Amino acid sequence: MIRRATPDDLDALVALEDASFEMYRITRARFARMLLHETRPVLVLDGVMMDGTGPRAPLVGYVSVLARRGVTEARLFSITVSAAARGRGAGRALLAAADDAARSLGCTSIRLEVAASNDAAIRLYTAAGYVPVHTWPDYYGPGQPGVVYRCRLNRDTVTAPCSTPTTRSSNG
Ligand SMILES: CC(C)(COP(=O)(O)OP(=O)(O)OC[C@H]1O[C@@H](n2cnc3c(N)ncnc32)[C@H](O)[C@@H]1OP(=O)(O)O)[C@@H](O)C(=O)NCCC(=O)NCCS
Repeated sequence: MIRRATPDDLDALVALEDASFEMYRITRARFARMLLHETRPVLVLDGVMMDGTGPRAPLVGYVSVLARRGVTEARLFSITVSAAARGRGAGRALLAAADDAARSLGCTSIRLEVAASNDAAIRLYTAAGYVPVHTWPDYYGPGQPGVVYRCRLNRDTVTAPCSTPTTRSSNG
């Protein structure tokens, strides 16, 4: 189930972020601010609980979306799936949920930045209808370009791939 994160998820989000990215991590303080912000949803995919009494299960993945009132283009700020859960559709589901969240916030398009070398993420985005619109040389450091992808959001269709599609995307 993909749901909106709450402050109770803060520890799990930080743990997932630290395990996923070596650089440009979203800080605990930034996550905490996003969790309180109506137009900056953080969506999480829960792990399976062994039983109802145990500790909270680690998160399988999260995606964060930034939107602003009066601005029709949202930004997919970061997405990750825990290493053990990759390759089973979680990323695709989180991306679709991010697109839905952007639509529900009134956005007609969503953009993101990704490292040009991040093949897995780029395939995920292009399969969902995101198209490259710009390349920033050295965006993630010398010789590490970042590519801006954009997806136009079909207003009438929820939970489907996009019909067509700054500061750092958080982590490229
Ligand atoms: C990018 C990421 C979120 C994908 O999540 P995932 O759950 O593994 O992706 P899915 O299983 O939903 O795969 C969806 C599609 O993405 C692409 N994809 C995913 N992993 C891939 C890989 N290792 N190599 C190539 N393509 C890949 C494929 O097109 C795949 O579709 P297919 O299974 O029909 O071929 C995941 O690899 C990840 O967390 N990476 C580290 C964090 C990161 O780089 N985030 C992006 C920052 S911009």
